[in-house]
Amino acid sequence: MADVVEAPPEEQLMAAIAPEVAKIEQAMRTDLQVATQGTDPLLAEVLEYGIFNGGKRLRPLLVVLAARLSGVAQGKNEEIYKLAIAFEYLHSATLFHDDVIDRAGLRRGKPTVNKSFGAIAAILGGDFLHSRSMFLVGSFGGTPALEIFCQATNAMVDGEFLQLRNAQNYNLSEQDYFLAIKGKTALLIAATCEIGALAGGATVSQQQALAEYGIGLGTAFQIVDDLLDYQGDTAQIGKAVGNDFQERKMTLPLILALSNANYEDKERLLYLLEHEDARESGFVEAYGLIDKYDGFSLSRNRAESIVAEAVAGLEVFSGGDDVASLTVLQALAKYVLVRQK
Ligand code: IPE
Ligand code: IPE
Ligand code: MG
Ligand code: MG
Repeated sequence: MADVVEAPPEEQLMAAIAPEVAKIEQAMRTDLQVATQGTDPLLAEVLEYGIFNGGKRLRPLLVVLAARLSGVAQGKNEEIYKLAIAFEYLHSATLFHDDVIDRAGLRRGKPTVNKSFGAIAAILGGDFLHSRSMFLVGSFGGTPALEIFCQATNAMVDGEFLQLRNAQNYNLSEQDYFLAIKGKTALLIAATCEIGALAGGATVSQQQALAEYGIGLGTAFQIVDDLLDYQGDTAQIGKAVGNDFQERKMTLPLILALSNANYEDKERLLYLLEHEDARESGFVEAYGLIDKYDGFSLSRNRAESIVAEAVAGLEVFSGGDDVASLTVLQALAKYVLVRQK
């Protein structure tokens, strides 16, 4: 039986990570001051607006924790933060671009970058962050880290293409959905853990264990993101609820409901999806139909078992020196299931 440390309550977790989040934000400020020197002032404005606005900083946090758990030397502390912020840059770049792609108007409780500054500024700001992220990973992680990072980025692009293809497919299988979210979200989260492990001097099996944990965490994270898109509170998630349905994204609750619904209800859901007016006015009805076929609860069950597996996979680190980092990683996986933002 795994020596599972019980997750502390959410507030305890937040208190435990708050100092790290502050260091990550400080590292980004310091780095961006250097990186934007001599660039167009609009770029700095766009970056300030799009980055320093309450993101959870999950990805850089995972880099730091994975490096610590792998026994990173004290002397490498500053380098680890520089490596870590690369992931927040890449993540932010993908959000700038994602909000153009998804035609989203709200992010982290504020108008999206594309809404405030226009699509061109959002695309260019994202390009700058992407480039800077690769520079940082190359400089502080070396070629092996850059290879993992670029593979994850390629997988993300591929996952987005798959999602685009899936949007036309109302008979999408669960398997197709899992493939898309692995590419667009989970592999980048896995890369944070893997690159953190690499930088911390992990053994191959430790690195592999952390990468597996990251895939599980990232997969559950996206399932919950897709649930929050239906069930979240806009004031808390800081994004518009119902956007996925408007964009006809085939996310897990909808896939499960369509595959379990009787003929009549399936036809009705498809009608609501396919007609623009009905999509907007019929969201509550669609929600009810998804719920009738347990689309939400079944999705949540899937996320729960994936998280349980991810936590169990960290067992290889139990009995190690860094109990604190292990506890936070375990707690983070559980937090993903209850998060409201
Ligand atoms: C949103 O990521 C995009 C997804 C992959 C679901 P986060 O929920 O981590 O966004 P922020 O950074 O905290 O705003
Ligand atoms: C995010 O997926 C995928 C990325 C790779 C950015 P979503 O489109 O669901 O993310 P949100 O809901 O806009 O944050
Ligand atoms: Mg989106
Ligand atoms: Mg979403």
